[in-house]
Amino acid sequence: MKIGIVGFGNFAQFLAKAFIRQGHTLCATSRSDYSLHCSELGIHFFRDVTALFDADNDVVLISTSILSLSEVLRSLPLDRLKRPVLFVDVLSVKEYPRQALLEVLPEESDILCTHPMFGPQGAKDGWRGHNFMYEKVRIRNEGTCSNFLQIFASEGCTMLEMSCEEHDKLAAKTQFITHTVGRTLGELEITSTPIDTKSFQTLLQTKETMMRNSFDLFYGLFIHNRFARQELENLENALRKVKETLIQKANEEKEKTQC
Ligand SMILES: NC(=O)c1ccc[n+]([C@@H]2O[C@H](COP(=O)([O-])OP(=O)(O)OC[C@H]3O[C@@H](n4cnc5c(N)ncnc54)[C@H](OP(=O)(O)O)[C@@H]3O)[C@@H](O)[C@H]2O)c1
Repeated sequence: MKIGIVGFGNFAQFLAKAFIRQGHTLCATSRSDYSLHCSELGIHFFRDVTALFDADNDVVLISTSILSLSEVLRSLPLDRLKRPVLFVDVLSVKEYPRQALLEVLPEESDILCTHPMFGPQGAKDGWRGHNFMYEKVRIRNEGTCSNFLQIFASEGCTMLEMSCEEHDKLAAKTQFITHTVGRTLGELEITSTPIDTKSFQTLLQTKETMMRNSFDLFYGLFIHNRFARQELENLENALRKVKETLIQKANEEKEKTQC
């Protein structure tokens, strides 16, 4: 397949390596200049998104930050599309890009919303066993869609078809909480000690992995997932409840010894 990537940051570069290994032809465009890096990988880099649209791709993959999506979509020269194309996004929230793509793309463009639930750190040894969520939002050309999904299936991903709404509900309880706990541990400035337990090392690892992601990604998970705010409150309440339980128990013990 011919795949054009819009937004060639950390995550797109990670995906691109597997796409190339599988024999697909790639081109890319981004706000920053990645022409050197792309030429090393055998990818044609366009400084101008119009040139990428003129390249007649089967798939246009959107891998910009969550926060810049609407700005990037506004900049797309959609009138240059020569034929119906499959648009795929890989954003870590799903209702938001689904709605945005439906609003801006021409009726004849197919839309596949996806979330590969892994990244360059967690899946550096391969994608086998990692989850890949997708919703076929508007698909007429089943062949191209299934060829694209096959890229992930053939790497061994666990393929999960579900609605974007269901994804966001679950991701707020899982991924957003993981990022929030990681960032909170970052605020505590915990580091390794000579008496680390294995559980503590796991916490430390979580902190380090989460802090390596951009703050834009973390903020995007919060601001563009309508379920995240409630989960943040649940987490805050849970910490308060744990603290209250400990203080209450300590007070009861103190009262007993005073009687
Ligand atoms: N990292 C992961 O593990 C992971 C996993 C699954 C899905 N995702 C999703 O993949 C996407 C990319 O993630 P990422 O890890 O590469 O980091 P990110 O910080 O979420 O996004 C970086 C990308 O956004 C572009 N960008 C940022 N601000 C922009 C602006 N104002 N205008 C135009 N482009 C802008 C950057 O372009 P330049 O580099 O050219 O500046 C770069 O291509 C995100 O939507 C994220 O949710 C990430």
